[in-house]
Amino acid sequence: MSVVAPIKASLNRIAFVTGAGQGIGRAIATRLARDGYDQKVDEVVAEIKALGRDAISVQADVREPKQIEAAIAETVEKLGPRLYVSVANAGVTQVKPLLECTPEWIENEVRINLLGLMNTHIFAAKQMVKQGTGGRILGAGSIASYRTAENLGPYGGTKFAVRGFTEAAAKEWAQYDIRVNAYGPGIVDTPMWDHIDRELARIEGISVGEAKAQRVKKEIKLGRIQEPEDVAKLVSFLVSEEGEYITGQTIKTCGGASL
Ligand SMILES: NC(=O)c1ccc[n+]([C@@H]2O[C@H](COP(=O)([O-])OP(=O)(O)OC[C@H]3O[C@@H](n4cnc5c(N)ncnc54)[C@H](O)[C@@H]3O)[C@@H](O)[C@H]2O)c1
Repeated sequence: MSVVAPIKASLNRIAFVTGAGQGIGRAIATRLARDGYDQKVDEVVAEIKALGRDAISVQADVREPKQIEAAIAETVEKLGPRLYVSVANAGVTQVKPLLECTPEWIENEVRINLLGLMNTHIFAAKQMVKQGTGGRILGAGSIASYRTAENLGPYGGTKFAVRGFTEAAAKEWAQYDIRVNAYGPGIVDTPMWDHIDRELARIEGISVGEAKAQRVKKEIKLGRIQEPEDVAKLVSFLVSEEGEYITGQTIKTCGGASL
């Protein structure tokens, strides 16, 4: 279903990123490669290899725990038992008033955004504990982890829960030298926001592009849409030595959109 990106580093460490084929995940994967980690994803593989890092691509649907487990096993088998960074980035959203949300859609969103993240974190932590090396575990939160929005109800529910799970995992895994945090972007220029824009245009009776432009203008204090690389900068910091005293946090990176 989607691509995960294990990256091995000159640091002799591997990073594993779910949903790395596009958008924020792709920017995180390439940024971590530049930081020295080797990885795993087709087109992104070529980009990462051009940076002089090793990369492979694994297909895994994060709704299926066994596929996540197999992807991590394949990663350490091919790149070595040095998993140090895991990023549960894969996510989806529907854009609908709650009264129009079907049980099937809600379940799909919870399975990907929340259960997929929990299982990715747990399988990654098991590998890190086995290695005895410690590690950095990150997940996709959002400004919606703090403030939900109309027409994005189930999405906001999953992102609030990501914040709670991040705290719980940080408490349990500190003893293994594992930090657990989440990044909380605002309005990032990715295919996900193109989808949100199209759906809001339909709901609000405005033209495609307007919903995004209006929100960027009104909500983002720094005056420009967020690029995926802006999120990757925070991830890069959190997995670096500079981030070693930070755990259990869902950190907003949103140009002031949450203010
Ligand atoms: N774009 C934003 O403004 C924004 C803001 C806050 C948080 N986020 C979060 O950041 C993460 C990435 O968002 P994005 O904007 O890059 O989205 P995107 O739609 O561009 O990319 C999402 C990625 O997740 C993958 N994915 C979807 N379902 C999957 C599944 N079942 N198994 C494995 N992979 C799956 C897709 O293949 C894709 O590569 C998401 O968790 C999203 O909720 C995005």
